[in-house]
Amino acid sequence: MAKIALFGASGTIGSRVLREALNRGHQVTAVVRDPRKITEQHPNLTVMTGDVLESASVASAAKNQDVVVSAVGGGDGPGHQATIRPAAEALVEGLRSLGADAPRLIAVNGAGSLRTPDGTQVWDAEGLPEFVLQIMRAHGDALDFYRTVGDVRWTCLSPAAQIEPGERTGTYRTALDNLVVDADGKSWISAEDYAVALVDEIEDPKHVGERFTVGG
Ligand SMILES: NC(=O)c1ccc[n+]([C@@H]2O[C@H](COP(=O)([O-])OP(=O)(O)OC[C@H]3O[C@@H](n4cnc5c(N)ncnc54)[C@H](OP(=O)(O)O)[C@@H]3O)[C@@H](O)[C@H]2O)c1
Repeated sequence: MAKIALFGASGTIGSRVLREALNRGHQVTAVVRDPRKITEQHPNLTVMTGDVLESASVASAAKNQDVVVSAVGGGDGPGHQATIRPAAEALVEGLRSLGADAPRLIAVNGAGSLRTPDGTQVWDAEGLPEFVLQIMRAHGDALDFYRTVGDVRWTCLSPAAQIEPGERTGTYRTALDNLVVDADGKSWISAEDYAVALVDEIEDPKHVGERFTVGG
């Protein structure tokens, strides 16, 4: 059983991570700006108020935990610019302040920086709307930042190009920096299977200090 502090627990992806972790017997502290947004009740669930953009808030949520998970988003493009890399910096600063006792960190990243079968990156595709590019770049900036960090045990998990609520099959494929695509060239994962992969990484760490990605 792991003790997990989860930022973004009220979101599309975070709520699936919350459910998957609770179903597998982990103890989860949902760290949210507005506790009223967590309606789930479970003996292993604690809800606390916190803001991922404040390192003191991160440190207080992370104390005595095994893992901090960040599934935060910023809504539209500019919101991501204001949230994703600043959150990465506050998460690292907050964890760093706990020294050797700091838990590890798993952060939801984006698919934009992943390499495609033709050798380009997802964000190089023609015709992407500006707000999508802003979201992709925000995650790219955060990943660049994490890759400079050597004193906090971080992992980034990028979804497939498309992720949406769906079925929990319990099966998925992973790669490091290459987009996972199926035989038809489609890159897709359900939010439920993404959560399975993330909780598997909590239980069996394989990607400390690197980014990996998951697709169906
Ligand atoms: N294919 C892809 O690459 C792909 C696709 C989808 C999503 N994503 C990424 O995955 C992440 C999660 O996406 P999602 O769809 O689950 O997002 P979402 O439904 O919008 O949820 C975002 C969550 O972040 C929380 N949050 C935002 N700012 C916060 C702060 N300062 N402190 C604490 N919590 C904060 C929100 O809490 P409140 O309830 O308080 O607002 C909410 O729980 C995003 O970063 C998104 O870019 C990537």
